[in-house]
Amino acid sequence: MQFFIDTGIIEEINQAKEWGFVDGVTTNPSLIAQTGRSQADVIKDIVKIIDGPISAEVISTDREGMIKEGAELAKIHDNVVIKLPLTEAGISACKWFSDNNIKTNVTLCFSANQALLAAKNGATYISPFVGRLDDIGVDGNGLIAEIRQVFDNYGFTTKILAASLRHADHVKQSALIGADVATMPFSVIKQLFKHPLTDIGLEKFLADHAKSNK
Ligand code: G3P
Repeated sequence: MQFFIDTGIIEEINQAKEWGFVDGVTTNPSLIAQTGRSQADVIKDIVKIIDGPISAEVISTDREGMIKEGAELAKIHDNVVIKLPLTEAGISACKWFSDNNIKTNVTLCFSANQALLAAKNGATYISPFVGRLDDIGVDGNGLIAEIRQVFDNYGFTTKILAASLRHADHVKQSALIGADVATMPFSVIKQLFKHPLTDIGLEKFLADHAKSNK
């Protein structure tokens, strides 16, 4: 399973690099807005830090605008993945990008049928939003399971990128179901390290060591 960090904050990405297990980065217009910088500038910095897929989302809502914007973003670096919303225009643009060998991440996916459309048009990644479905009382990880089954039924190679993961259990469930990638905010990655018994155990080891070295 690959881990991506869902952020535009360079300090967080530097920390992710140091951890060693983060394979890529996802951004979205909300995350870029938090940086107060242009998307192109943020992406240019990120590609220098993490050598893996870096998703950058288009703002245009029409097919031609998405293609123009995405083609410009793709010029930044070979690792840039063009993030497209799951709309008619986004799905149509996805086909153009896959025909032109440019990687895509189709985002804002909330149903298995939507995921099928992205897979049929050659999306590199499909991003089902787990947390936002949970927010409206629908089982977000249930959607990951449905998409896994549909893709396996037909051998689609589009990677399932579990997104909108809000806590460590979301990550575990996605991994159990077989999502290919989990993208997580910095705070959720930090949760993955934690178990109270680890802290208690280490405290005792260090206390015993201190006693025996008096
Ligand atoms: O990758 C999509 C993700 O950033 C959305 O997360 O928490 O805003 O639903 P959230």
